[in-house]
Amino acid sequence: MAQRSELMDKIVALSKRRGFILPGSEIYGGLANAWDFGPLGVELKNNIKLSWWKRFVQLREDMVGLDAAIIMNPEVWVASGHVGHFHDPLVEDKVTHERYRLDHLLEEQGVDISGMSFEEMANKLKELNLKSPAGNPLTEPKQFNMMFKTHLGPVADEKSVVYLRPETAQAIFADFKQIIDTSRKRPPFGVAQIGKAFRNEITPGNFIFRTREFEQMEIEYFIPEPKKDEQWQEYFEQWVSEVRGWSKDDLGLNLENVVEHEIPEEERAHYSKRTIDFEYKFPFGQKELYGLAYRTDYDLRSHEKHSGVNMKYKDPVTNEEYWPHVIEPSFGVERSVLAVLVSSYCETEDKRIVMKFPAKLAPYKAAVFPLLANKPELVEKAKLVFNSLKPHFMVSWDDRGNIGKRYASQDEAGTPFCITIDFDTIKDDTVTVRDRDTATQVRVRIDKLIDYISERIK
Ligand code: GAP
Repeated sequence: MAQRSELMDKIVALSKRRGFILPGSEIYGGLANAWDFGPLGVELKNNIKLSWWKRFVQLREDMVGLDAAIIMNPEVWVASGHVGHFHDPLVEDKVTHERYRLDHLLEEQGVDISGMSFEEMANKLKELNLKSPAGNPLTEPKQFNMMFKTHLGPVADEKSVVYLRPETAQAIFADFKQIIDTSRKRPPFGVAQIGKAFRNEITPGNFIFRTREFEQMEIEYFIPEPKKDEQWQEYFEQWVSEVRGWSKDDLGLNLENVVEHEIPEEERAHYSKRTIDFEYKFPFGQKELYGLAYRTDYDLRSHEKHSGVNMKYKDPVTNEEYWPHVIEPSFGVERSVLAVLVSSYCETEDKRIVMKFPAKLAPYKAAVFPLLANKPELVEKAKLVFNSLKPHFMVSWDDRGNIGKRYASQDEAGTPFCITIDFDTIKDDTVTVRDRDTATQVRVRIDKLIDYISERIK
């Protein structure tokens, strides 16, 4: 259910006004909480994905990547349990025909739904004689499968049914054998993937927090078959600190706002022996940002059973054959963007907005201004500076209005450095570099600018 807050309203308004995040299909009245990443948003989002890939793939020797097809053989989703179990409890307002998630409605009534089965929720609905938010009677609840169905090829019948993937994880399991044969990795090693996932959420909402089309950054980390619990727990703890490290060092989140919620056994997914939800204190409440699960050897075993293909790993040194166990850190891209927008949002005393993004995530690293747009010698020099920076960083050009307005505009975009070319530049080849966070200004030689910016956005 969407909960409003003043800060969220400001972030949504800024996102639209400055082109971070725009309502999708707006000219046709939009489409149920679909959002588009505009010119600034796509840069921010790409920088988050690039940082993630760098941290978890490029800088590690025990990780490789994958980019699998979104539409997979439907048997994958039978084996994974999604066809049988990927349900949310749904009720319908008998008058307006609006649909709601029963667990959300019960939570709003203060009911503790932790560990409640579908039947228990249905009984609670009756017991409380629960009405819809519009005050109307509700239908009996039913289990609603959240996978998007479509048909492959020209004939739309039962045999051609396929699904848009509800998570990126399963392709990593399905391709496990091929990855291990081609990459020659040995457990412990991981496979990382970034890509779209689709869930037919009953109640999307809270801006980009819950949408039906979103992106995941997932890792399946394969470990040797543990002989004792401590063995998988050790890897699990390493991943707890990796998720913390990512949140703090890459996204710049204050860890006081990231709460680790140990999920009790009765609430965990059927495949999980331990799960921690990393929840973020969003303006609309403390909600799941990321998940970390110990999936045991459930998935490889299950794919072996359904496909008939041996999914065991054979150690070339020891000849031992086993199903590797899996630790899965799962990160939502949009939730990362939202947490970064929330944590970076600042207002000055005179109510101007400054987006204090970590410099490496900022859409533009620098903006270049000729002091006066009607002085060709300044414009020409500024163009030279702009063109020299472009191959190295995303750089913005602005020659409209006074310098104060241009600074304010770049502060809203979160640009860490503004570079002004003035009459002194013509004489001594130095420029003014103004810092977004401190508003201090220094003179820097043009031939030192690339180093100056690189050093500060590391
Ligand atoms: N493979 C495990 C898995 O998919 P999940 O907790 O269902 O686990 C992982 O999803 C992450 O994906 C979440 O922590 C969240 O960041 C993101 N996510 C899930 N559903 C989402 C939705 N409807 N909209 C935006 N992000 C979503």
